[in-house]
Amino acid sequence: MSDLYKMLVRPFFFKMEAETAHEIVCEILAYVESFPFLKKAIETLLHSPKDEKIVFGLTFPNALGLAAGFDKNGLFPGVSKALGFGHIEIGTVTPKPQLGNIKPRLFRVIEENSIINRMGFNNHGAEAMGRRLEKYYPKQGRISPLGINIGKAKSTPLEETLGDYLQCIDFLNKSADYFTINISSPNTPGLRELHKQEFLDPLLKGIDERLEKIAKMTFQEKIPYLLKISPDEDFSSIEKILEIAVGRNVGGIVATNTTTDRPNHIRLSEEGGLSGKALEDKSLEIIKFINQLTNDKIPIVGVGGISDGNSAAKKLDSGACLLQIYSGLVFEGPLLPKKILNELYRRKVWLT
Ligand SMILES: Cc1cc2nc3c(=O)[nH]c(=O)nc-3n(C[C@H](O)[C@H](O)[C@H](O)COP(=O)(O)O)c2cc1C
Repeated sequence: MSDLYKMLVRPFFFKMEAETAHEIVCEILAYVESFPFLKKAIETLLHSPKDEKIVFGLTFPNALGLAAGFDKNGLFPGVSKALGFGHIEIGTVTPKPQLGNIKPRLFRVIEENSIINRMGFNNHGAEAMGRRLEKYYPKQGRISPLGINIGKAKSTPLEETLGDYLQCIDFLNKSADYFTINISSPNTPGLRELHKQEFLDPLLKGIDERLEKIAKMTFQEKIPYLLKISPDEDFSSIEKILEIAVGRNVGGIVATNTTTDRPNHIRLSEEGGLSGKALEDKSLEIIKFINQLTNDKIPIVGVGGISDGNSAAKKLDSGACLLQIYSGLVFEGPLLPKKILNELYRRKVWLT
């Protein structure tokens, strides 16, 4: 079946401009989302293995999640679950709708199974997302947790960033099983400055207090929040980030976002964040470093260049306890989650 994808489906889509292909795929998935029996049929046919585990207070049916950016507006979380994903991270969403950067802004590096993007948080806005999720994908009865990745608007000055994240939380807390605080996209000017202590500490303090307040007001458990970091920070910076994150009750670290570095073998000279195979080693180094430093104290969601069971197992062996994929799906197709999960199940690496 995955050969069928590579022989027929992939060549068809790869003839198109990358973003057009992605938009068509999203439209198809959003269409399927509205037919419960189709989702059920996909899920039954694929029958991905389950291996429950509790991480940052939530129960995950398996290790593998959909990374942020694939379903930016939360249009097909049910289909993603049917494909086997044990958690689905939607977004990045900003308080108000944004168009993102001018096109073209998405490029395949086919010979390296990699992607360069400079999308710039194109999204429908948090209010619209919140309304849609409350109606079509309510929190009750979910098996695979839904994470909502939130960010700041391009026009918001760095000093006023907290307000953007709080607005997103206010619009979306009824729908999010967890939030991911995105400070690491390279395509929103200044966003990565938020890795610096003087911005990060007050930002996380404000977010933590808001989530605490919501929990008190709703008589519900506090919604956990994760921090998604860049692979382009040096180890001493990551050490400081972790210290702040632990002090501000961050539930886990998503490592990593895309890189602005270009390994020598990447010849495409487009600006933006590089993901896929070319990112794998770099994100792995960061996961290892965090794991050594924190000694299992803070859960790591490993993301970057996972393309098969082996690369997934490597991330788990290096200290990640959950995984996410994006680029691998583009190159390997929709059966990749099942393939990875079967291999992890066979190796029994997740639950150990
Ligand atoms: C086209 C594209 C758009 C992305 N958009 C987002 C985003 O909006 N927010 C985010 O946190 N990460 C975003 N990412 C990064 C991914 O979530 C992931 O961290 C990165 O691609 C590395 O994983 P991969 O090698 O499996 O693709 C995007 C990646 C791609 C390729």
